[in-house]
Amino acid sequence: MRAVLLGPPGAGKGTQAVKLVEKYGVPQISTGDIFRKNIKEGTELGKKAQEYMNAGELVPDELVVDLVKDRLMQEDCANGYLLDGFPRTIYQAEELDKFLAEQGQKLDAVINFEVGHDELITRLTGRRICKKCGASYHIVNIPPKKEGVCDKCGGELEQRKDDTVETAENRISVYRESTAPLIGYYEKTGALKNFNAERDHEIVFNEIVAEIGE
Ligand code: AP5
Ligand code: MG
Ligand code: ZN
Repeated sequence: MRAVLLGPPGAGKGTQAVKLVEKYGVPQISTGDIFRKNIKEGTELGKKAQEYMNAGELVPDELVVDLVKDRLMQEDCANGYLLDGFPRTIYQAEELDKFLAEQGQKLDAVINFEVGHDELITRLTGRRICKKCGASYHIVNIPPKKEGVCDKCGGELEQRKDDTVETAENRISVYRESTAPLIGYYEKTGALKNFNAERDHEIVFNEIVAEIGE
């Protein structure tokens, strides 16, 4: 299965991706996670991406597109993948289409997460991430068993740098301006599937599976 997870910051793309990976056995390709790993490791790419991410702006297309194409050429993507956070601009979507055409492939689904503004802010500012394994929680909605500690590995939970109210607001504006036009783009191709992602994450997951098949 080749699918794109589309939606505003905080809509639950990463949360659903973890469950979909388990269900469908294809890797999650999160450009945000790739950049955060590079920042942590202090690579050249990380240094370039950092200031854009901390400000809630998009990393320039030229730093994103080749990175994703290289990743999709790796062996574990042969039977499909879930793109989480890519494409994010019309240019990125067109580049992905060209790449897929070259490979004789197409997208099976574009899963569009619909969540209102205030709920996005609540989700982003309440999010906590495990320092060690990257697992994601929410202080109220999806809390860990023990406050501040990861259920999966016992690691310490921390807040993402861009999960302040101010940066979250900017990310939502950037989404509206640069990424939301992709909804129309994929509507035309017939791949778009809309989900009301404001409900409980289990309900959202079951609906996605019902829509895209076992
Ligand atoms: P990225 O890491 O992709 O961040 P994002 O799009 O802002 O999305 P988030 O990860 O914040 O939200 P999510 O939808 O994954 O929600 P989650 O499941 O965590 O990108 C970060 C930055 O990298 C960008 O700003 C940009 O600078 C750069 N970048 C990345 N890709 C790029 C690209 N292609 N081009 C250019 N720049 C790029 O859930 C959020 C919270 O809600 C969690 O706490 C979770 O527990 C909770 N939650 C989830 N589902 C539910 C539910 N159903 N009910 C209640 N709570 C829920
Ligand atoms: Mg995410
Ligand atoms: Zn952990």
